[in-house]
Amino acid sequence: MVEAYSIPVTKVERSRLPEITLKDIPFGRTFTDHMLEADYINGEWKNVEIKPYQPLMVSPSLAALHYGQSIFEGIKAYKNEAGEAFIFRPYDNYKRFNLSAARMEMPTVPEDIFIEGMRQLIALDSNWIPAMHDHSLYIRPFMFSSDEMIGVRPSENYKFMIILAPTGPYYSTPMRIKVEETYTRAAPGGVGQAKAAGNYGSAMYVTAQAKKQGFDQVLWTDVYEHKYVQEAGTMNVFFVIGDTAVTPDLTPGTILAGVTRDSVMTILEEMGLKVEERPVSIDMLIEAYKAGELREVFGTGTAATVSLIRELKYKDFAMSFDTQKFTVTAEIKNRLDAIREGHAPDKYGWMVSV
Ligand code: COI
Repeated sequence: MVEAYSIPVTKVERSRLPEITLKDIPFGRTFTDHMLEADYINGEWKNVEIKPYQPLMVSPSLAALHYGQSIFEGIKAYKNEAGEAFIFRPYDNYKRFNLSAARMEMPTVPEDIFIEGMRQLIALDSNWIPAMHDHSLYIRPFMFSSDEMIGVRPSENYKFMIILAPTGPYYSTPMRIKVEETYTRAAPGGVGQAKAAGNYGSAMYVTAQAKKQGFDQVLWTDVYEHKYVQEAGTMNVFFVIGDTAVTPDLTPGTILAGVTRDSVMTILEEMGLKVEERPVSIDMLIEAYKAGELREVFGTGTAATVSLIRELKYKDFAMSFDTQKFTVTAEIKNRLDAIREGHAPDKYGWMVSV
């Protein structure tokens, strides 16, 4: 038998879990008892350990705070009815994490630390995985530059960590989305395809403006004409037009290659729909809407899973949808949940045992 990668573990004296209500627990506010930490020093990963969840001590000159060399991932773990824990497609997130690292001139993280570390951390905190429909354990691996130096250059030292947060439904009510025409999220050649912390930070002002106007999120558009749609908030976006599901293609490098996006494309095909990844213009969507062919709009993401969109507003033109009648979206969510929550066979090999 191959020896499991051995990571030193310091356990909490007393778990905080008995004080926590897992049902409907809000996203991202409560963290499990333990975390994983590793340091990149002198070209090597060292000090890999699992220890009680606790604050970090950082220097005011920490490079990540000044220049944003910081990336992350979002992954989820589930429990089946037998109480066994599984992680959904962690290797896909692992690959994407290291692509983000390369784009941000950061070191890649070895599989032993990322996957095996995650597995051991979840095994230790497995009682925190809510075994309830629409609930999961959200896994947040992240890495940041840790040089104590404010010169503008890539850091020599980095910290990689994994923290875990039990979570209930994310966007539970159908969303109103504003098609954004003033601000942009990503340009070709930029970092839109990377899960760089700054992509999320720079979206906050724009989202806050949209929220003041009564929207839940914005649908980002291209930097040249504000015509071609990209992502909606933190989600990839799908449009069901007739018997075809259309989603923006990844080629301009301005869209995150979502793992849920990829899974949904597989399920759509399984359901007999045609799936097209291609440039999606707002004009085409309006035309399809006016012709009565734009049937359903939804977003996908690790945190969001599959989220209903009830309105898309472009300038003064509102496209409204009765999400109660969304059959395709509902079916995708059912099939995906069934695989993840262990009610359907894992025919694509997506579930990795803890
Ligand atoms: C995710 O879906 O995992 C995300 O990264 C979105 C967000 C919570 C930042």
